Amino acid sequence: MLQEHITDLSKYVEPDRVRREVYTDPAIFELEMQRIHERVWIYCGHESQVPKAGDYCQVQLGRQPMIMVRGADGKVGVLYNRCPHRGNMIAGDRSGNTGEFFRCSYHAWTFQHDGRLRSIPMMESGYAGTRWGKGNPDCSMKQAARVENYRGFVFASLAGEGPSLRDFLGKAIVAFDDMCDRAPEGEVEVVPNCFRVIQHSNWKIFLENQLDALHPSVVHQSTGRAAHEVEKDIEKKTGHAPLSYHMLSAFATVTIDKWDNFQTLNYPYGHCILTGYMGLRPKDPDTLAYEETLAKAYGKQRMEEILAVNIHHVLIYPGLSVQSPLQQLRAVRPLGVDRTLTEIWHFRLKGAPEAIYRRSLAYYNLVNSPATLINADDLENFWKCHQGLASDGGDWVSFGRHHGRDIEKDGVVETAPNCGTSEAPMRGQMKAWAQYMGNGK
Ligand code: FES
Ligand SMILES: [Fe+2]
Repeated sequence: MLQEHITDLSKYVEPDRVRREVYTDPAIFELEMQRIHERVWIYCGHESQVPKAGDYCQVQLGRQPMIMVRGADGKVGVLYNRCPHRGNMIAGDRSGNTGEFFRCSYHAWTFQHDGRLRSIPMMESGYAGTRWGKGNPDCSMKQAARVENYRGFVFASLAGEGPSLRDFLGKAIVAFDDMCDRAPEGEVEVVPNCFRVIQHSNWKIFLENQLDALHPSVVHQSTGRAAHEVEKDIEKKTGHAPLSYHMLSAFATVTIDKWDNFQTLNYPYGHCILTGYMGLRPKDPDTLAYEETLAKAYGKQRMEEILAVNIHHVLIYPGLSVQSPLQQLRAVRPLGVDRTLTEIWHFRLKGAPEAIYRRSLAYYNLVNSPATLINADDLENFWKCHQGLASDGGDWVSFGRHHGRDIEKDGVVETAPNCGTSEAPMRGQMKAWAQYMGNGK
């Protein structure tokens, strides 16, 4: 069954359309885990989630339960969450501090932070003359094949071979540079908890939505309009409405026709960037105080360069969506062909005034959290898409909007002028998908 799918995969993806089974077939999902999520660089977490030696948190990479842990030497490593003795998961809690070593809860084998076997109860008498013991690597917890950290953002790849993290990220590295450069200290710090949302839809549906510039003024219009009404009332009464209203009203004031004015840039490996659309540099006192701190840290010219970076959204395929100007990040963890976990994080700019953090928190709560209407509207569509794709009402998903007008230069696909609502990002993602799936033979 699986083998048949492998030979047939080329028939599933065309430049402007994709077969529905790509979203609904459990066998294709299994192959995606092997050939994509358990092979490429996947975001594990931010190093500030594990600030002290022994701090750890669990993370799912493909189908593999993993642990990100800070060692006594300060290094952050990533291990399979599995005891080499009889397979017990070592960490049961989502996060915590393991002390000086890991200790399995079943028979008390202990391990260093880097996974090396430390001790086995009565090792000498129990294992003398056997193949088991400290010299045998099968008695240590297995490490992720590769771990790299870029400006505090930790990624792991479960394959020993492949591009370096920097080569993989390419131009999409701007997501982390833009986020960190906006901090007067050049670093961000995670707010140590996230929203975890399980979507009843395939993981690719979420990713395709991230740079879908046509949907916001349709799906989020009602929320945007309601916020705009209140915003206008407050403005009338007080002469000034809080910026948080703008975060929502923009969904109505940026009308459907204006979205074609924006641009997406589509890179190798399926990464893509949507150029900015929100008024992120208002002239209120909080922003001005923040700009003063930035200018003190970097000088005026560099500050201008930092604040001029005009991106709204960076998608790092196949599992990360970053809104760097507002310090938001969503990690996508496929759980099954129709179940997807998203972790929704936000960050503090180190050295920035508290008011700037409150702005990030407001966006987190108003736009990205599961409590907001924006997120709920998206989730409903994701679920409905999956339901529709599981039906026999048609075989293809269309990515034909502005197809044929893309401008390709040096492997980068730019949408043509006035084609911001192009489905080029979905075409780029599926092109990368087909390459990964095809190369895995
Ligand atoms: S399963 Fe871990 S010590 Fe036995
Ligand atoms: Fe949306």
